[in-house]
Amino acid sequence: MRVRKKKHGEQRIEAQKRYLCTDPGLIRGDINAPFGRVAPLRLEIGCGKGGFILGESSRLPDRNFYALEMISDVMVTALEKYAAENRSAETDNVRFIIANAGNLEQYFTGPSFETIYINFCDPWPKAGHAKRRLVHRDFLKMYREIALPGGRLRFKTDNGGLFDFAEEELASCGMRTVFHTRDLHSSPMARENVMTEYEAKFTEKGVRICMLEAELS
Ligand SMILES: C[S@@+](CC[C@H](N)C(=O)[O-])C[C@H]1O[C@@H](n2cnc3c(N)ncnc32)[C@H](O)[C@@H]1O
Repeated sequence: MRVRKKKHGEQRIEAQKRYLCTDPGLIRGDINAPFGRVAPLRLEIGCGKGGFILGESSRLPDRNFYALEMISDVMVTALEKYAAENRSAETDNVRFIIANAGNLEQYFTGPSFETIYINFCDPWPKAGHAKRRLVHRDFLKMYREIALPGGRLRFKTDNGGLFDFAEEELASCGMRTVFHTRDLHSSPMARENVMTEYEAKFTEKGVRICMLEAELS
């Protein structure tokens, strides 16, 4: 994804630091501490500009959400959109982390999440780049480490080849797919679905969206 450098990006991130977690040690000490309340936890990896996490966290105000994104100039947008919602103490349930998913273990240790979301991750089409796909078995094994017993992965993509790859990788890890569709918006999951920015663009072009839910542990 090409990202234009944001003007005053660092200052803009600093201005929203109350929503940002920069100290992995703090989270490792008490995963709910950044929220100021204890609630079941969910994690989105590669949140982009935040459209999904804002919608999902509003839909489920009784959950705490972490959103991880590795590009700070993209995270600025997510942070500023979240801050603009000016949520009350009861609905202020998202905290953001600027980090690479490969470093997840620095932040999270042990079973913590009931759901992990991956939405429209980069497909890395060259076979030699397969290990970079966020649904590669190496990543799935990391997610398993931080998922609660019975914890779920929810994965959406426009890319049928990547969807097939994800199912193969899940099977290779012994993770059971409990729901899958190649046309999310016509499926029973459509009712609770929150669209991401990428999903909205693909849907506008008439592309059908693939979605699966699998047990991580
Ligand atoms: C194609 S965009 C999709 C954004 C958003 N999820 C959506 O559906 O609109 C993929 C996002 O994942 C982020 N990303 C890719 N690899 C990542 C990694 N290893 N760790 C954290 N974020 C990553 C990218 O920076 C980008 O913002």
